[in-house]
Amino acid sequence: MTDPGVSATTDPSATNDLEATLEGLLSVESFDPPAGFTRRRPVDADRAAAAADPQAFWAAAARELLTWDKPFTQVLDDTNPPFYTWFADGELNLSANCLDRHVEAGRGERVAFHWRGEEGEHRDVTYADLLAETQRLANGLLSLGVRAGDVVGIFLPMIPEVAAAMLACARIGAVHNVVFGGFAPSAVRERMEVSDAKVLITVDGARRKGRRSPVKAAVDVELGDLPALEHIVVVRGPGENAAEVPMTAGRDVWYDELLAAADPVCPAVALPAEHPLFILYSSGSTAKPKGILHTTAGYLLGATYTLRTVFDLDPETDVYWCSADVGWITGHSYIVYGPLSNGVTSVMFEGAPDYPDHDIWWRIIEEYRVTVFYTAPTAIRTCIKWGAQYPARHDLSSLRVLGTVGEPINPKAWLWYHLVIGGGRCPIVDTWWQTETGSVLISPLAGVTPTKPGSATRPLPGISPALLDEDGRPVTEGTGILVITQPWPSMLRTLYKDDKRFVETYFSRFGPRTYVVGDAARLDADGYFWIIGRIDDVINVSGHRLSTAEVESAIVAHEAVAEAAVVAQADEQTGQAIVAFVTLAGERVGDSAVEAELREHVARRIGKLARPRRIVWADDLPKTRSGKIMRRLLRDVAEGRELGDVTTLRDPAVMSALAAKVAAGP
Ligand code: PRX
Repeated sequence: MTDPGVSATTDPSATNDLEATLEGLLSVESFDPPAGFTRRRPVDADRAAAAADPQAFWAAAARELLTWDKPFTQVLDDTNPPFYTWFADGELNLSANCLDRHVEAGRGERVAFHWRGEEGEHRDVTYADLLAETQRLANGLLSLGVRAGDVVGIFLPMIPEVAAAMLACARIGAVHNVVFGGFAPSAVRERMEVSDAKVLITVDGARRKGRRSPVKAAVDVELGDLPALEHIVVVRGPGENAAEVPMTAGRDVWYDELLAAADPVCPAVALPAEHPLFILYSSGSTAKPKGILHTTAGYLLGATYTLRTVFDLDPETDVYWCSADVGWITGHSYIVYGPLSNGVTSVMFEGAPDYPDHDIWWRIIEEYRVTVFYTAPTAIRTCIKWGAQYPARHDLSSLRVLGTVGEPINPKAWLWYHLVIGGGRCPIVDTWWQTETGSVLISPLAGVTPTKPGSATRPLPGISPALLDEDGRPVTEGTGILVITQPWPSMLRTLYKDDKRFVETYFSRFGPRTYVVGDAARLDADGYFWIIGRIDDVINVSGHRLSTAEVESAIVAHEAVAEAAVVAQADEQTGQAIVAFVTLAGERVGDSAVEAELREHVARRIGKLARPRRIVWADDLPKTRSGKIMRRLLRDVAEGRELGDVTTLRDPAVMSALAAKVAAGP
């Protein structure tokens, strides 16, 4: 084990020195927690308690960390696997746990969010402010006819209203369904339609790097005719919005007018622990996104416990910032629920990392004296590309702990993060988890776990991952299929209105008590987990999940396309990138004009993230005799590997033609 205190003598902004230092450290396999770091929250007792009796451990944590209206007597009910329940006879309100209890304890003036707009605007929202806004909005939603169990869609940028919207739903037991602000309105429509959303909370217009685009008008075009959608609430977003905002009388209401007319007091209702909290759509193996359903108490316990434990967070002193978007699970658990439940002060940033300049993140860290920073490997790689001169402009000495999530981090990015951003002082926590798991399951604990760049290290207390081979036999060292063998409180409860797909997706391979993650992993001799990647047809672009089937169905919806197959290609910047093999219909020839059209088409149907990096025009696609497209072979071609077995192909010549085309370059 090595203490990389080496950085203390290195000026990381000196490019040559930095390169040499990084290269020199690449061969180091394991790093002890930085010598000067003192952990504040001991965890040995948690480990011992969880090892001795996981249920008793979770029960004690639930009593200590959450405030209950009716204490639970039952912990885990595992009599009907895989439909597990936790703390089922207890009652609580999640918004009261995130807001009221802090205000009642005299911490109402503490800042919940230092909001920072992309044009440099500042707004500090205290816990008392957020409670007041949440109560008014909750009453506003009630006045629109929203009741416990109804679904409310949320399609908002990174503004404090998004947290109020989620909390207002939780306050009255409505189920929120947040859609990432970068998705296209047609993706919003699909998610609202399949969840029967009654109300959608959205914004007049959005801004991104100085450019503005209408949102409400686009939403009207896509969602105007949804029968279940009774009301659209429209937030006036920050800055001037020149766009015309169409409002339909009787259906649409301005957010500020709804709040102004609402009663300021909305008591938090006690809800059963298993009351549904939210649906979050995520990509699976088919074109239809999965509506991952989380419930109240178990989810909140996971978010609350892991945030403080993994990051060694102290609400009294830390200023925490997670750079994700609330539209992803990371934003749900680690921008909204985990931080607020812990009563911590966070930064919420509306903008992009390169606007107005490439140093905006580091400027924010300096200005707010951020102590804990949580981001994604893809973002770190982008910052490396921009250069160490941007962080070097700012004083980052407030930082204490750094985190990453979303994909495996390559050792070079890990080292750069460690030296350039963390100054060699800050433990890095590489947190592995998923939308389905609700909260982090495998991760180093800051300042406790020796880290190996690229490994998420070991499970958290109370979590039991394992590797199995194809036949379900345990793998103690080597690679295998990652599973979780015991239920945990923040696990998904089902797929919304689709119990069958829930069981099939996660619990059919090795039985109803073994959760199949969908990732392959390697276990080393020290018991460290190394996540390799997805084993289903899910592509991880910049830490965001997209299904090959979803992208394919968007491509084939274009009139010029006859057939398409989509695979992932390793990419230095985004982890994976999308390569589409496309057969055109009729007379169209594959040229740059069609390529641009197709990319734009995918952006409109799903979002920019899903645009193929490369399109390969194919006369035919490799198919088995039964007509199944063999993506495995396309992956081999895309990544320049030797072709695997082609003997099962109907026409092996198809593959050699494609391989020649790809080798010839774009
Ligand atoms: O493949 C794993 C990868 O992201 C998947 C989960 O994606 P999603 O549900 O969108 O949630 C992302 C944020 C929690 C996982 O199945 N993944 C996530 N974190 C890591 C990771 N792969 C390697 N290392 C990680 N730390």
